[in-house]
Amino acid sequence: MVEKNQSTNLMVIFVGLLAALAGLFFGLDTGVISGALPFISKQFDISATQQELVVSSMMFGAAAGAIISGWLSSWGGRKRSLLLSSILFIIGALGSAFSPNAEVLISSRVILGLAIGISSFTTPAYLSEIAPKKIRGGMISMYQLMITIGILLAFISDTGFSYDHAWRWMLGITAIPAVLLFIGVTFLPESPRWLASKNRSDDAKTILLKLRNSETEAIQELDDIFNSLKIKQSGFGLFKNNSNFRRSVFLGISLQFMQQLTGINVIMYYAPKIFSLAGFETTTQQMYGTVLVGLVNVIATFLAISIIDRFGRKKLLVFGFSVMAISIALLAYLLSFDAHTLLIQYASIAFLLIFIIGFAVSAGPIMWVLCSEIQPLKGRDFGITCSTTSNWVANMIVSATFLTLLSTLGDTHTFWLYAALNAVFILVTLYFVPETKNVSLEHIEENLMKGNSLRNIGR
Ligand code: BGC
Repeated sequence: MVEKNQSTNLMVIFVGLLAALAGLFFGLDTGVISGALPFISKQFDISATQQELVVSSMMFGAAAGAIISGWLSSWGGRKRSLLLSSILFIIGALGSAFSPNAEVLISSRVILGLAIGISSFTTPAYLSEIAPKKIRGGMISMYQLMITIGILLAFISDTGFSYDHAWRWMLGITAIPAVLLFIGVTFLPESPRWLASKNRSDDAKTILLKLRNSETEAIQELDDIFNSLKIKQSGFGLFKNNSNFRRSVFLGISLQFMQQLTGINVIMYYAPKIFSLAGFETTTQQMYGTVLVGLVNVIATFLAISIIDRFGRKKLLVFGFSVMAISIALLAYLLSFDAHTLLIQYASIAFLLIFIIGFAVSAGPIMWVLCSEIQPLKGRDFGITCSTTSNWVANMIVSATFLTLLSTLGDTHTFWLYAALNAVFILVTLYFVPETKNVSLEHIEENLMKGNSLRNIGR
């Protein structure tokens, strides 16, 4: 019995670690472009619009990947989707590294995006299906944390390669962990829930026996799975016919748009550029500043995970949007000075870091959590596909417009705009976002379907 317990734990830990590796990729590919972009634009001599395309092509691919991932992972299984995604990661990384011109680079980044889009839907789904109930929340949070660690690692590796202007290495090196991911995924068990949905209950049982501590636990879980499978997913049909479900779908879409329109990824993709606007002229200064941004993001996310369930989602969101609105408004104000004294330079960094903290303890993790909580069971896959896709579409819009905004509105007004958006989101949160802390998913669903106002579906 003791042996069984140990092997069970090892198996679950192995599964968790591998899925975390998929989170790491989300982060690596988010972070890697910021350091590479200045060198790429110099070598290929590309305009601001083309630079925006280099960045945003990945989000375009990710939105497409997210749209097909629901279908893909229910048709071919979670494991095959993750395998496909790791192969696309490898192709995308090598294609970017060896690209002879901006066009090939942009196409390779679309492939990378497909990989991220698929894994950003499949990994949390796979994790929630394979983790024992007790540690389910923890595993999904770990995935979030790994995203930020991936961003930080990319910033550090970019800094290392920046001395030689080696942007091809920055982009290519991510193929190595992608190969590891591919090898690891081949050892992953298929999701028991997916197997059961394909009427392969014997296979589902064999895997559950390996993942759970006792036969009773495994059989009980298989029963639960079969019971929940009786509720047929009716996504689009429900969306067409049920106005209450439409409300939760639109809420999910809005939440993810809000997350992206905070402006977080303007910093993640263009941090060195922002440091240069604040008067840090050397590449070394800009790269160190970027690493600091990544580090603060990891630490704040780590702290956030422990407080989400204590303070509740809504309060933290209001707090986070307020912090972001104020800090980015102050940054805008500082950028309006023509001369950059040392004080202004360091105050700019401080406000940027405060902004990151505001995001990491609120919209960063909470939007993903809320989006998985507000959808009724019958339309869950459809609802989450819509919100995840919206996250990437909004991400693409932000990354494809930043440099244009800087050149048309100017840096101060661009940041004012983001400050104003964050201020609006405080109101939206107060009026439309429900508090779901400590509320069962069944209760939320009942309230939603009764027609209660969105902000009250957690009551
Ligand atoms: C967002 C990403 C962002 C990351 C930053 C995630 O929750 O979806 O777009 O880059 O947080 O930590």
